[in-house]
Amino acid sequence: MVKKNACIFISGNGSNLKSLLKNSRDNSFPINIKLIISNNANAKGIFFAKKKSLPLLIVNTKKRNFENIILKKIKKYNITLICLAGYMKILSKKFIKNYGKTIINVHPSLLPKFKGLNTFERVLKNNEKKTGCTVHFVNEKLDSGKIIIQRSFFIDKNDNVEKLKDKTQKLEHLAFPEAIRKIYRYN
Ligand code: GRF
Repeated sequence: MVKKNACIFISGNGSNLKSLLKNSRDNSFPINIKLIISNNANAKGIFFAKKKSLPLLIVNTKKRNFENIILKKIKKYNITLICLAGYMKILSKKFIKNYGKTIINVHPSLLPKFKGLNTFERVLKNNEKKTGCTVHFVNEKLDSGKIIIQRSFFIDKNDNVEKLKDKTQKLEHLAFPEAIRKIYRYN
């Protein structure tokens, strides 16, 4: 099997990056992680990427041409899948069009419910019975592309924001790799 070259975009802890990297060590997993991109020079995930000697690009999103810098790098590494794993910057329509290949994202709610930020607070406020995570294709509208996979759990009466986050992230670490296998139809 020829693995696809993937790039992971991060802004924070990088726990999904860790889980994807672990999965990618398996010969039957359809991707190899070739490049990490972060818009946050202090992201915890960067230290992990460095420890694992993964090629890394830290972009300054205040620069007007930062998306072109990303595109150039992505081309160099022949990336055919971009995984947004907690990347807190919205990609422009132009970037999505110019890249022209697959981009997927993991979101901490059962989309189409609770698009955007502060999902756990809103889930609790809305007295939801269930919540979970969604892995979806990225299009030009925020958190609105076609859903690949969702995983859910019932909310306990003692759950608070921290607990919901923890339970949701545990599911994300399974759902994200599962979605990638699904896209490329490997089991
Ligand atoms: C995840 O919960 C994801 O749903 C959201 O950002 C978080 C990133 O976490 N988009 P991590 O950096 O992978 O630990």
